[in-house]
Amino acid sequence: MFVDRVHVPPGLAPDAAERARWPFDVPCVAELLDHGLSFRRPVTLLVGDNGSGKSTLVEAIAESFGLDAYGGRLGRYHGRPDPSKTALGEVLRADTTVAGARMLAGPRRRKKGFFLRAETAFDLTENLGGVPGYWPEDTRSLSHGEGFLAIFRSMMNTPGFFVMDEPEAALSFTSSLQLVALLHELGESGAQVVCATHSPILASVPGADIVEVGEHGMRRVAWEELALVDHWRRYLADPRAYLRHLITP
Ligand SMILES: Nc1ncnc2c1ncn2[C@@H]1O[C@H](COP(=O)(O)OP(=O)(O)OP(=O)(O)O)[C@@H](O)[C@H]1O
Ligand SMILES: [Mg+2]
Repeated sequence: MFVDRVHVPPGLAPDAAERARWPFDVPCVAELLDHGLSFRRPVTLLVGDNGSGKSTLVEAIAESFGLDAYGGRLGRYHGRPDPSKTALGEVLRADTTVAGARMLAGPRRRKKGFFLRAETAFDLTENLGGVPGYWPEDTRSLSHGEGFLAIFRSMMNTPGFFVMDEPEAALSFTSSLQLVALLHELGESGAQVVCATHSPILASVPGADIVEVGEHGMRRVAWEELALVDHWRRYLADPRAYLRHLITP
């Protein structure tokens, strides 16, 4: 692992007026300000509803480790990552492990890891296949999902700190299972993954630490107890139980 914990040091903490505004008023961000977030396992999964703050968290976590926002907000990923940070990223600090500190102190080429955003990852598969330092496959000639998996597989060669935002977006059931296996293997091989997801499949990475994000802030939850898993179970058992509230016959 490379990062033990992320937190906002007292000297950088926003004042009461700032805390009343975005992003510091998002419950999980407010909790992060008060308590920080520790990473206890090589794979940490952030799960929660739309708008609960997962992207806000993962962006700032990536920024706190100086990760290239490959496919970042401005799409400037050709070796020129977007230098501007988010409001939370400006104040969030990463407590690194010995391996993390060594990686940060080393030359740029020794820095391994990236921040993968679902929204822009498709651009990556189109533009970066075969480019030195990225992945060898010509991902343009692969389908969206195949390209994603090729990118993930190439990460296996480089144990690093990988932050992802909904990487399941392009993936089928079977490909999602392959990603679960890859994430698990990454964790076992010395890498660290922090991943926001809506997928009950991805959330099932064995041994992962699951943090449920929502109105309550953040809490550790076993996979079986996730609201997401409960909804999917019930929906698959009887779609009509949900749909009758939405569709009038
Ligand atoms: N630039 C912004 N300015 C103001 N509010 C924002 C901004 N970006 C996001 N928000 C708000 O912050 C909250 C958290 O958003 P965020 O994108 O982190 O949620 P999320 O958990 O990633 O959701 P999703 O599952 O839809 O991706 C939401 O209420 C959102 O409307
Ligand atoms: Mg999001």
